[in-house]
Amino acid sequence: MKIEKRVFSGVQPTGNLHLGNYLGAIVNFVEMQKEAPCLFCVVDMHAITLWQDPDELRASTREVTAAFLAAGIDAKKHIIFNQSRVDGHAYLAWICNCVARVGWLNRMTQFKEKAGKDRENASLGLYAYPSLMAADVLLYRATHVPVGDDQKQHLELARDIAQKFNSDFDEFCERYGYPDGFFPLPEPMISGPATRIMSLRDGTRKMSKSEPSDMSRINLTDNADEIAKKLKKAKTDPEPLPSDVEGLKDRAEADNLVGIYAALAKTDKASVLGEFGGAQFSKFKPALVELAVEKLAPIAAEMKRISEDRAYIEEVLKDGGERANEIASKHLRVVKDIVGFLQS
Ligand code: TYM
Repeated sequence: MKIEKRVFSGVQPTGNLHLGNYLGAIVNFVEMQKEAPCLFCVVDMHAITLWQDPDELRASTREVTAAFLAAGIDAKKHIIFNQSRVDGHAYLAWICNCVARVGWLNRMTQFKEKAGKDRENASLGLYAYPSLMAADVLLYRATHVPVGDDQKQHLELARDIAQKFNSDFDEFCERYGYPDGFFPLPEPMISGPATRIMSLRDGTRKMSKSEPSDMSRINLTDNADEIAKKLKKAKTDPEPLPSDVEGLKDRAEADNLVGIYAALAKTDKASVLGEFGGAQFSKFKPALVELAVEKLAPIAAEMKRISEDRAYIEEVLKDGGERANEIASKHLRVVKDIVGFLQS
């Protein structure tokens, strides 16, 4: 049976969205709209694996929605919704929990990083997080998942869960009309020059919402002055830019800034170095500032405009949630049959 192409991805509503989220994920969401039906989810259930202030969670959920819309996602042709609206995520996550092995979860590096030294005190939700993430994708039988590099291991786990489910229940998948297994193995789409944007203060650390210094990241809500200030202060080294990509090896900060330029200009690092190879940062940084302001300031302005229309945002999420739920409940009915739950 031919499997229809379908795209799913998610972004957590915690803290400020930053350039890494934008270039590593959201820009690719916008591109994927041309290729297949897409679902883009504000994953509020993932967010509460670490305690969130409920009012801030609501505000962040609206803000991520505004960012999706401002970046150019078409909420009429595709689906934008918040995860908690569709009960199927939690339901299927339970089934994924029963398929996934403890040994698989124990290997997840993001849990180790987030739980830190006080692992015994981390929430059970934080530990099971990748299983919920697998359920997000599998609930819609999504085939393609655009994400940044840091989600690669989680998506490999989603594939392992899908594969084990299909094989544990092969006879039953066939009985209910899916001889090749019910879940397609989702394909991570990690591409382009910005799959891992690093901190502006330390090129060896990922740009992240949780980094205490705001100077380490460009937030999607930053205005032109803030963007310029942060890029001008970004850490560099004393050498001029190399003329080929090989020359960026062991120069984490230079590599990062060239990658950011390439992603914003929709080109690759080699072309950027073709133009700026041999130049000092004193020449490259102003060009980067100009490009970043040109590309990002209109998004910040549009986010602000959309954010002021709370009723519109809530309508988008409600309508998206209803359409997502239609797909999800259809799939969940089949999954319940396959695993042997009685339904009338
Ligand atoms: P989250 O909210 O941490 O990040 C959202 C997206 O942004 C990407 N990203 C980056 N890309 C490049 N450089 C960076 N510094 C950077 N930081 C973040 C992430 O890779 C991600 O694509 N677990 C996911 C959310 C999720 C999800 C899903 C994703 C939940 N369910 C199902 C795909 C499919 C997360 O925490 O992303």
